[in-house]
Amino acid sequence: MIDPTRFLDDLNRLRCFGASGVGKGVIRPAYGAADIAARQWLAEQMRAAGLRARIDAMGNVFGLADGPSILLGSHSDSQPEGGWLDGALGVIAALEVARALRAVGGPAVSVVSFQDEEGRFGVTTGSAVWSGHLDQGAADKLTDHAGQTLAEARAKMADLVTGGVDPARFTGFIEMHIEQGPTLDASGEQIGVVTDIVGIRDMKITFDGQQNHAGTTPMALRRDAFQAVSAFNTALNERLRNVVTPQTVWTIGHVSLHPNASSIVPGRAVFSMQWRDAQSDRLQRMEDIIRQTAQEVAATRGLELSFGPLLGLEPVEMDASLKAALAEAAAEVAPGKWRHMPSGALHDATNLSRLMPVAMLFVPSIRGISHAFEEDTHEEDLIAGVQVLMRAVQLLSP
Ligand code: GLV
Ligand code: MN
Ligand code: MN
Repeated sequence: MIDPTRFLDDLNRLRCFGASGVGKGVIRPAYGAADIAARQWLAEQMRAAGLRARIDAMGNVFGLADGPSILLGSHSDSQPEGGWLDGALGVIAALEVARALRAVGGPAVSVVSFQDEEGRFGVTTGSAVWSGHLDQGAADKLTDHAGQTLAEARAKMADLVTGGVDPARFTGFIEMHIEQGPTLDASGEQIGVVTDIVGIRDMKITFDGQQNHAGTTPMALRRDAFQAVSAFNTALNERLRNVVTPQTVWTIGHVSLHPNASSIVPGRAVFSMQWRDAQSDRLQRMEDIIRQTAQEVAATRGLELSFGPLLGLEPVEMDASLKAALAEAAAEVAPGKWRHMPSGALHDATNLSRLMPVAMLFVPSIRGISHAFEEDTHEEDLIAGVQVLMRAVQLLSP
């Protein structure tokens, strides 16, 4: 059965790869040294659990049971400043359930840690390629904010690649994750059974103006790329107001100014534009407004405008039978302390829904904080979650 000490110890051991030194935070972006070392460690733990370890060309790490099995897992890369549980929890929970069920003779469980879920190069890149949503050739051309290509980054772990994995061997996928929002923490509940995952769009936008002297260039003559971003943001917030719901979100999370100096009018601004909603048609209407607003700002201010590739995932619903098994397990393990809920964060489960039935369960995030070093979850909630995961797998076995 679940061994809480072994489970929590392994979660803490994974945290040591890229530990930030600030609280329990981690710095483990995809294909960095800490991420690659963590993937090698995970492959060892999978082998020790009696699974066959396999690393594919994207760096996704699989621990394969013999014959057909359910697949459990998540991702072990982090945001540039990330928490210790985002992704890691689902991977170590999967490992613990695989070990616990193997000890009692089944059902068989395979384990996965997908690569670049956090989108250093795109949106859930490792599972997007594995699921066929994204072509490897197109993925290889994607760049991070420093201009490195995915092809260059994944070459860093090329010597670890042992081969691809056929999705047909898996009967379904369940991903355990922290909620990354305030709902369960605020209600005092322990488990969220996910109903659906929002859709997302993400693209880089570039304004090219004229780099010039910050002391001598009159304001009226400037073609200032930062001022364009600022005007774009203000206009966009106003224009989106009639289209969005209270659940719709949009973010400019990364801005790069060139040459980024106090005494130079910036000639170039490259920034990320991301938006999320549960409805594909609303995502499309938002895209139209974003493009139109950027075009108007560029034209009014005499700047060149270019858009990067539009990346995205559609909203998806969870599989009814997997969801029902999770709900039954949650009612057993945490009676009166669980609920159904949507996911506003993205997950590898979205990509896998192209290949097999998928479902997800959440445990609370203290104060709803994630994608930050402060991210944490009470140990009793982590343990309740892994117990629900194991029980659901048992309920699903014929
Ligand atoms: C995944 O981490 C997301 O950005 O939702
Ligand atoms: Mn995650
Ligand atoms: Mn994340």
